[in-house]
Amino acid sequence: MDGTYSQNDLTRVVEADKAHVWHHLIQHKPFESKDPNIIIEGKGMRVWNQAGKEHLDAVSGGVWTVNVGYGRERIARAVYDQLMRVNYFAGSAGSVPGALFSQRLIEKMPGMTRVYYCNSGSEANEKAFKMIRQIAHKRYGGKKHKILYRDRDYHGTTIACLSAGGQDERNAQYGPYTPGFVRVPHCLEYRKHEQDGAPSEHYGEWAADQIEQIILREGPDTVGGLCLEPVTAGGGVIVPPEGYWQKVQEICRKYDILLHIDEVVCGVGRTGTWFGYQHYGVQPDFVTMAKGVASGYAAIACCVTSERVFEMFKDDASDPMNYFRDISTFGGCTAGPAAALENLSIIEEEDLLGNTVAMGDYMLDQLRALQDRHAVIGDVRGKGLFLGAELVTDRQTRDPQPEARVQAVVADCMGQGVIIGATNRSVPGKNNTLCFSPALIATKDDIDHILSAVDGALTRVFG
Ligand SMILES: Cc1ncc(COP(=O)(O)O)c(C=O)c1O
Repeated sequence: MDGTYSQNDLTRVVEADKAHVWHHLIQHKPFESKDPNIIIEGKGMRVWNQAGKEHLDAVSGGVWTVNVGYGRERIARAVYDQLMRVNYFAGSAGSVPGALFSQRLIEKMPGMTRVYYCNSGSEANEKAFKMIRQIAHKRYGGKKHKILYRDRDYHGTTIACLSAGGQDERNAQYGPYTPGFVRVPHCLEYRKHEQDGAPSEHYGEWAADQIEQIILREGPDTVGGLCLEPVTAGGGVIVPPEGYWQKVQEICRKYDILLHIDEVVCGVGRTGTWFGYQHYGVQPDFVTMAKGVASGYAAIACCVTSERVFEMFKDDASDPMNYFRDISTFGGCTAGPAAALENLSIIEEEDLLGNTVAMGDYMLDQLRALQDRHAVIGDVRGKGLFLGAELVTDRQTRDPQPEARVQAVVADCMGQGVIIGATNRSVPGKNNTLCFSPALIATKDDIDHILSAVDGALTRVFG
């Protein structure tokens, strides 16, 4: 920390925060007797709080966002230069960084052609939902309007996104929900013993078949879209089992269902490929992305579509209703694509995809070594620098550890100056997975440091 703030300044900041800021996803009662954490500076993999305490950040800004690390001067300069040139114009017009970033992005996404800009992951998902609904009205008299989503997946915070949300603790108390969203079963092999009829072999194909069963139950002529995370994030870091994605693609083609992949977490490098779906050879119709697109240096989200989808919105220009009648005010901010362009260049120039694969493999191995030493770790899984360790009370029964004990591990690490994550208030009774998503610049030393903190925390909490 460079000492830019005096202790007086920081005392005022804490008082203002406690008096007026409503923090995200947190109960505020404890702040009546203790101060909230205020992050005042970041550099590389590290952040400092108001007490000057250094933290190694193993979750890229708490929610898998700051993929290229903190303090990237070239992104800040690019944003500054762009803002001085022109900060904003509504998205009915184009912008220089918007055009250039769309081209660079599409180069990484064979088969996709169009980028619709907006400003959050939830909003990008809403765009895809609206497009699927509009296609249903234009082509199928409104009938093919249902959108399937998966148990344990999360797609955002708005009411429609919660309606497509497979995490009942996130959804609870915010109903009634939007009609027309239908849930399909999860594909977490470690918990297949809780799923009726799950086989001991070829689980991936079976899990995909469950989607087909739901389509047949609902009627294929009523189902317009399927929305899935490529690797489920907050629902427990679920890497899909072998055979799953190929079957999912076949099912979508068979029933003329548009495939929407939510890459809000996995997109732009997190799993070691540009996009998570690219591990599985599938061809989506929609890809939504947000967090890592500009690593949190500016707000930007994109709903990317194939040309086939785009064409459906311009095939009859004589019809005044026949285009996507949607706008996102802040989708016209130029800071987002300006930051995203630099972010992409950094990933390329520093070979951060290569680092993500190498460091992800290393971290997975180290987590497995930790699993050998701690019986509480029932399962370790992940892809690239996107990893989870599921904590259980008994390896035989796989009963989950209570959320409070999992949070005790997170708190112990925090006390040691290492920020890790855990699934929280997400799947009832299953908020038992520790989450790791360090920036794509992580080194072996960083990973050793993170896992040594976890090792100590597990020993203190579980013995
Ligand atoms: C997979 C996924 N989709 C969508 C979202 C929503 O993104 P946002 O918070 O930017 O609206 C999130 C947020 O965590 C997410 O994890």
